[in-house]
Amino acid sequence: MKKLTDLKVRFVGAGNMATSLIGGLINRGFMPSQIRASDPGGHQRQAVTERFGVQTFDDNNAHFGIPDVVVFAVKPQIMKKVTLDVANSIAETGALVISIAAGIKVKHLESWLSDDTAIVRTMPNTPALIGEGATGLYANQNVNKTQRRLTESIMDSVGISHWVDKEFKIDVVTALSGSGPAYFFLFMEYMQKTAIELGLSPEVAAKLTEQTALGSAILAQRSPDDIKVLREKVTSPKGTTEAALKSFNNNDLERTIKQAINAANDRSKQLSDDFS
Ligand SMILES: NC(=O)c1ccc[n+]([C@@H]2O[C@H](COP(=O)([O-])OP(=O)(O)OC[C@H]3O[C@@H](n4cnc5c(N)ncnc54)[C@H](OP(=O)(O)O)[C@@H]3O)[C@@H](O)[C@H]2O)c1
Repeated sequence: MKKLTDLKVRFVGAGNMATSLIGGLINRGFMPSQIRASDPGGHQRQAVTERFGVQTFDDNNAHFGIPDVVVFAVKPQIMKKVTLDVANSIAETGALVISIAAGIKVKHLESWLSDDTAIVRTMPNTPALIGEGATGLYANQNVNKTQRRLTESIMDSVGISHWVDKEFKIDVVTALSGSGPAYFFLFMEYMQKTAIELGLSPEVAAKLTEQTALGSAILAQRSPDDIKVLREKVTSPKGTTEAALKSFNNNDLERTIKQAINAANDRSKQLSDDFS
């Protein structure tokens, strides 16, 4: 296996996700010369070059070279056009393809590139923008062990990643961690709003809500106890937490959450089907 410091990575699209990944790779010790990116937007190209010293191009095929990995980081609507644009270049190099485009199935990528292309479909989430992402990964049969490890080292540069063994599970990942930040934001929004109604200043309510979410997540990560045990530990009999949890249960919060995640899972499948 090539050393990380010898790898060449090409980004197609240099927007938010690509910029985060490029930043993550540089933080991991990649040299700017190992990375190239293309994007029609002059502003994005300038930002990536100024921030990271990475060479950028307005043409997806320009100075393609022989990359080990090509990361597609464009909107799903233009994936077909963009993959067809560079299909020949990829076929010539035999590079591993990583797609971060939501909803684009591997079978479509194979039909636009070629059946024997090594392809990893990923589903990252917005905390990747600050290096705290959670990403689901699914590989086609052409991806070898080395390329799997390579994918992990790229996606783990902006958080954590986990493989799924069946492509339909990417829809579940989408419903869990892809859309998940919005669920927590909604919960935090309502907590904050209620605390303000009960008398806290907006600033204090915001800070305490944010730190409570952050502290709880870190505690859940670091503690050997599972989430249920952690919840039980905070809940003293007849105490304040118990009063709140009883209220959640009376309103069947579990059912509400199950319905919401199922709705997101169904919508993810439907969006993927629409792209076909
Ligand atoms: N942001 C997230 O947290 C997140 C989470 C999960 C999945 N994703 C997926 O990640 C992908 C990228 O998202 P993003 O948030 O990074 O979007 P973004 O910031 O809009 O980046 C996409 C970039 O692609 C460029 N582009 C447009 N046409 C192109 C072409 N023909 N060739 C090369 N580049 C082209 C765009 O330039 P212009 O702006 O000039 O058009 C833009 O800079 C999407 O497919 C999205 O579904 C994102």
